[in-house]
Amino acid sequence: MLILMEELKKKAALEAVKQIKDGMIVGLGTGTTAKYAILEIGRMVKEGLDIVGIATSKQSEEIAKEAGIKIADINDYEEIDLTIDGADQVNKNLNLIKGGGGALLREKIVASCSRKEVIIVDESKIVENFSFPLPVEVVKFGWKRTAEKLKKLGFEPSIRQGFITDNGNYILDCKYEKIEDEKEMEEKLNNLPGVVENGLFINLADEVIVGKKERTEILKKK
Ligand code: A5P
Repeated sequence: MLILMEELKKKAALEAVKQIKDGMIVGLGTGTTAKYAILEIGRMVKEGLDIVGIATSKQSEEIAKEAGIKIADINDYEEIDLTIDGADQVNKNLNLIKGGGGALLREKIVASCSRKEVIIVDESKIVENFSFPLPVEVVKFGWKRTAEKLKKLGFEPSIRQGFITDNGNYILDCKYEKIEDEKEMEEKLNNLPGVVENGLFINLADEVIVGKKERTEILKKK
């Protein structure tokens, strides 16, 4: 089962990297699925592909450098041509929950600066309604008070034990019954003092590549 899941992630990753062309600035996602894409890009670079990568986490930066990919500072580029990233869940509107790996802030910054955001997932991540606990990045100062405000919005937050983000913050993993209006909720969460960013990615994915047993499916933004 686990092996199959890895195969599906890899399938999606290999399909996504076909979109990379010479000279592109490429956003490199975080997580086990994105890692397959980074390793394949590294292989393509060794064969002569000329691209510059923008990493969404320290972990991805390390993997990319190790694979031989040139990494640049996002501040040096106004736009990223193509970003390939994973997700924890994807719904029918192609909205996402991200942050299972704790890299949501950098991932959202990179996605928001990308001409095209391609999400790669195995088929188990496609859902009717979100259920994955929503990761919310909060500053350390007063995090318990921020957690109380999240409770008032209907969440059941718990601190991710022993985890500090690349930006020096905490992650609160927030359980919920149902997120009714995801766009409104994303805004409400980011309006709370102490919240740095949340894992709802609304209207950011242009394409979702789904690794399935029989084939690879490409879902496009309408
Ligand atoms: C990292 O913070 C996340 O947003 C990942 O993109 C997401 O958790 C998917 O990770 P996997 O590919 O490991 O499931």
